Amino acid sequence: MIFDTHAHYDDHAFDEDREEVLKALPGAGVGRVVNIGSTIESCEKCLELARRYPYVYAAIGVHPSESEPLTEEIFETVRRQCMDQRCVAVGEIGLDYYWPEPSAEIQKKWFVRQLQLAREVNKPVVIHSREACRDTLDILRGERAWELGGIIHCYSYSPETAREYLDMDFFFGIGGVLTFKNAKKLKETVQYVPMEKIVIETDSPYLAPVPNRGKRNDSRNLAYVVREMAAIKGISEEEVRKITWENACRLYRMEE
Ligand code: NI
Repeated sequence: MIFDTHAHYDDHAFDEDREEVLKALPGAGVGRVVNIGSTIESCEKCLELARRYPYVYAAIGVHPSESEPLTEEIFETVRRQCMDQRCVAVGEIGLDYYWPEPSAEIQKKWFVRQLQLAREVNKPVVIHSREACRDTLDILRGERAWELGGIIHCYSYSPETAREYLDMDFFFGIGGVLTFKNAKKLKETVQYVPMEKIVIETDSPYLAPVPNRGKRNDSRNLAYVVREMAAIKGISEEEVRKITWENACRLYRMEE
């Protein structure tokens, strides 16, 4: 079975047929999905989906690009949601310097706060980091992130930087980008990182793999990522599914 470690089925892209898509997943070989919080509004929807479908779990957190409206009062709500039984991780949290707003200071402040929240609720972290390589590592080290456990989602840095995440015992989230022709750096990273630290993810509705690149993504497309990973690692697709499933269960601390 396939474990999609990172999806956004609360996204408006699924408003027309969310139930249809989610109900079709187990029959299509997708056994578990973690639906990841990004905005303040999405966190409640994540929990609703996780309560409705036994194979859907929630991660609760506020994405760095969505951290501008956070206040202490709202943070208190996020904190309560993180304690929910259906919440398996705190995320996605991190830094995104691709867009100029919110300022780095605001992003860093809420990143640190949410890492501390993960420690308080004793759950692993889902990290989003774009064009913020150094600051992300500095903050993760400062907060002793290896004690929390977690994943660097949609990994986009160099194979050299991968070493630093391996040293923190983090998992690597690999998705549709792996199938893109121009993904040379990511293919090198997947070659370098031991299979025991790799999980697969869609980031649905974004980042659909070839041959569906550009279309709305859902967990069923992970079959293409599995195929590409098997070719790079020189193992069977069955082994990729099995190992990434076991890894995802370790990451999110679930029974297999
Ligand atoms: Ni995401």
